[in-house]
Amino acid sequence: MRPARNVRGSVELPGDKSISHRYGMLSGIAEGPSRIENYSSGADCASTLACMRAMGVNWERKSEGPGVIEVQGSGLSLAAPATSLDCGNSGSTMRMLSGIVAGQSFTSEMVGDESLTRRPMERVIKPLSAMGAKIDSQQGKPPLRITGGSLKSLDYKMPVASAQVKSCVLFAALYADGETRVEESVRTRDHGEVALRAFGVQLQRKNVGAGSEVRIRSGQRLRGIEARVPGDLSSAAFFLCAAALFPGSGLTIPNLLMNPTRARLLDILMQMGLSISVTQLEELHGEMVGSLQVEGAKLKGIKVSGADSAALIDEIPVLAAIAPFSEQGIEVRDAKELRVKESDRITSIVTNLRKMGAQVEEFEDGVKIPGGQALQGAEIESFGDHRIAMAFAVAALRAEGETLIHGAESAAISYPAFFENLEELTIR
Ligand code: S3P
Repeated sequence: MRPARNVRGSVELPGDKSISHRYGMLSGIAEGPSRIENYSSGADCASTLACMRAMGVNWERKSEGPGVIEVQGSGLSLAAPATSLDCGNSGSTMRMLSGIVAGQSFTSEMVGDESLTRRPMERVIKPLSAMGAKIDSQQGKPPLRITGGSLKSLDYKMPVASAQVKSCVLFAALYADGETRVEESVRTRDHGEVALRAFGVQLQRKNVGAGSEVRIRSGQRLRGIEARVPGDLSSAAFFLCAAALFPGSGLTIPNLLMNPTRARLLDILMQMGLSISVTQLEELHGEMVGSLQVEGAKLKGIKVSGADSAALIDEIPVLAAIAPFSEQGIEVRDAKELRVKESDRITSIVTNLRKMGAQVEEFEDGVKIPGGQALQGAEIESFGDHRIAMAFAVAALRAEGETLIHGAESAAISYPAFFENLEELTIR
């Protein structure tokens, strides 16, 4: 990666990863056909579709536009897979699909790659076991061997703020007897709730303090939908932060997801000095979508903590990567979850920033990166983590000299065309 003088232009993002996973799973257990446009091009969402196929769901990619797939729903009962369900690198696939698998009357095994095999699964094992599924794991880690069947409803207060776990329990609740209630003390992304409604499921939601509560009745049948997935805001984050690095930058991003449980980054970047305006707001199957215009200015510092850390969990790597170029720096706390993502993202951020010559202070639950620092181009690592590869490609735009990112191909987990699109926006 070579340094840039500015970033300018327009870019449309592939479909949001979180929504694509949920549409991929729910269209498979719906009745009748679904047609989904702009399904995420990332390898993670392909893992979800491959698992659905292994359980007898027919789907095909169409050639008429980016990410168009047609799915023939099987209804709630899926077929026993002949082989293990391979979730690849995708924690979302394993955690959310385990909720659907737990409702099936067969035994199956869910496996993943080396990174996924290190990630905690007790957060889904616990509620699903309480609902009556039998799950064997390697001390709470994958592979998971799940014997599903008739589940009991559950009243569950989530101990970890996790939208994946919330969706997992809500999906399992479709197969339970009676009403399931899920409570979270910190509000997390609500795509599971929104997608269930889009597929015709009735559920009650209410905000409780800083969190929320969802109630869902079992036995509800889903019906197929025709939908377009909004552009991925967590992928757009890399371009927004690239724009934040250069006063006078200018980006247009049409058809971008604007769901309030995901859009905290926009407020944070505005507080840091970026000018952002949203036009053409519309609602697609319960999800807000808009067109963003962004202009860079002088970059101020910020502190991210508490509920913001949960709301920004996927965007923290790229915020940290631009932190040295801000005036006052960035401090992130209450973000211990970063340590159990595709890599230990706190270690990955700290290691790479130090290799580029920055001063960084590491905490168990975050980092503090002073502002007003210059970065030197260096040889750095993606640690096999897509968001680390892309975050440091952004930092490299303002470094002095060239940066080499080992394992940059991991960007394809969520955004195969990332480097190509970044290059198109870059002015040298
Ligand atoms: C996701 C939730 C978050 C996020 C992940 C996608 C989702 O994970 O980091 O990239 O689609 O629900 P957690 O549920 O573990 O917080």
